[in-house]
Amino acid sequence: MKIEEARRYHKIDAVIVGAGLAGLRAALEVAKSGLSAAVITKVYPTRSHSGGAQGGIAAALANVSEDSLEAHMFDTIKGSDYLADQDIIERFVNEALKTVYEFEHMGVPFSRTEDGRINQRPFGGHSAPRACFAQDITGHVLLHTLYEQCLQHNVLFFNEFQVLSLLLRDDVCRGLVAWDIRAGGLHIFQTRAVLLATGGYGRAWKVTSNAHANTGDGVALVLEAGLPLEDMEFVQFHPTGLYKHGILLSEAARGEGAYIVNDRNERFMKTYAAAKMELAPRDVVSRAEQTEINEGRGIHGQDYVYLDLRHLGREKILSRLPQIYDLALNYLKVDAIQEPVPIQPTAHYSMGGIPANVRTEVIKDAAGQVVKGLYTAGEASCLSLHGANRLGTNSLQDAATFGRIAGIHMTEFCRKNAFSDLPVKPLETAQGKIDRLWSGGKERHAPIREILQENMTRAMGVFRNQDDMLKMLAVIKELQERYQQVGVDDHGQAFNLDLVEALELENLLSFSEVIVEGALARKESRGAHFRSDFPKRNDGDWLRHTLAWRRGGKIVLDFSKAVVIYPQYQPQERKY
Ligand code: FUM
Repeated sequence: MKIEEARRYHKIDAVIVGAGLAGLRAALEVAKSGLSAAVITKVYPTRSHSGGAQGGIAAALANVSEDSLEAHMFDTIKGSDYLADQDIIERFVNEALKTVYEFEHMGVPFSRTEDGRINQRPFGGHSAPRACFAQDITGHVLLHTLYEQCLQHNVLFFNEFQVLSLLLRDDVCRGLVAWDIRAGGLHIFQTRAVLLATGGYGRAWKVTSNAHANTGDGVALVLEAGLPLEDMEFVQFHPTGLYKHGILLSEAARGEGAYIVNDRNERFMKTYAAAKMELAPRDVVSRAEQTEINEGRGIHGQDYVYLDLRHLGREKILSRLPQIYDLALNYLKVDAIQEPVPIQPTAHYSMGGIPANVRTEVIKDAAGQVVKGLYTAGEASCLSLHGANRLGTNSLQDAATFGRIAGIHMTEFCRKNAFSDLPVKPLETAQGKIDRLWSGGKERHAPIREILQENMTRAMGVFRNQDDMLKMLAVIKELQERYQQVGVDDHGQAFNLDLVEALELENLLSFSEVIVEGALARKESRGAHFRSDFPKRNDGDWLRHTLAWRRGGKIVLDFSKAVVIYPQYQPQERKY
């Protein structure tokens, strides 16, 4: 039987992997053009992690005070510690207003000013109230609205499918192979264009705000396909993770006026960022918090500080911040109206990812050569919009704006290009992964994952140093060896989560090595990458992007990709 006749074979113009904001926005754009668009997602679409983004979506609407595109651009450049590409930021801030108004017209229930305009609140590192919000459930309402739009425009959904291999040959992406989690079995998707919008990779850490699904599957697929990843060492820690759980307590709390205090009830940010206080960017606030903890000023000398909302009052807390009130109550039994909430830095956002140009085409080298038919957007991508540190609320905007841009370019590409032939044995790689786990050895995935997460939290946190990172690398190598002997106990087809988690672990182990190698090589501190042994930023040597490949079982790094810097935005010392 020919591949095309197989029951589990699909021929679709554009396949989008991931049903977060970037994926859905791209799918909508393609579907509106009349081409066929399918979304493949590991979870039910409205459970995608974009729904976890709480505080807002950035755009210089100037609805509540003066703001400008230029201010948004400069704040983003400075927030990135000058590593972001400024042409990408320029495009981003210019498209941002359109993105928000488009959402408004789709019916997103934004919170409003008294006279009916979209309300905006302050956020860390932004010089004006710029976060358009819906209470503290902004990502949730954007995601649901987009999903409804996709259904209305006949986007096809393959829910609960895990992508196992990209079908790439001669630098052309021809499709992919995915495992059907619900029913079992491999499916082949032949496509003209693929978008990787698989989100971030915070699940490599023990304390993280990320959903369980955020295991960096897209970045690992790209690495496996022989393509590079970019700037993977830059991982953001959000300062207000719920203690021990890591669950996000939105920066919106501080935008509304909440304080962070240490054991002496001091608003310690006055020592670290006197002008911005709690609304300094996340890298600065997380480092301040960790310093307080390390120097014994955590609450009762322990590894947490307090987020104090009490002075905001019941009415404001319940009307503006209902979700974080519920989270503190449900997970820690803390009533935030009456008591301060224990918090700690939590692994939150991946600035690095799959390198792409402004058209969202995946690139394969520092010269910017593209892989035909392969696109990326959202947190999985590295355009690079956020550089070494992202500002809050720029991520929902990034996902929606570059999701739309991806949809436009994928549509153009599909109109100009026929389907390419599939490789002769399209199932080989994917089937190999499953067979190996089904006939595997005595090791089990859960303990290996736990050791990885614990060590990443210890060695690859807010502060890093060479000794810890070398030990981390050795741990990863050992775990990768052990992974070769992992077998699964469940040999069933339907909802075999034993299998899915084992597959995810391979991805976690693969990209974690890239993070550590990049961080070891980058002997400076910039944005979220802070090395206690190299505490200064070093533009002379390190104002460069990192590209990383896996070649012959080793990670190969290249620093020849320059940062795009405009004459008017030359690097300066970053002070808040
Ligand atoms: O704090 C927050 O609401 C998170 C937003 C973001 O990461 O952009």
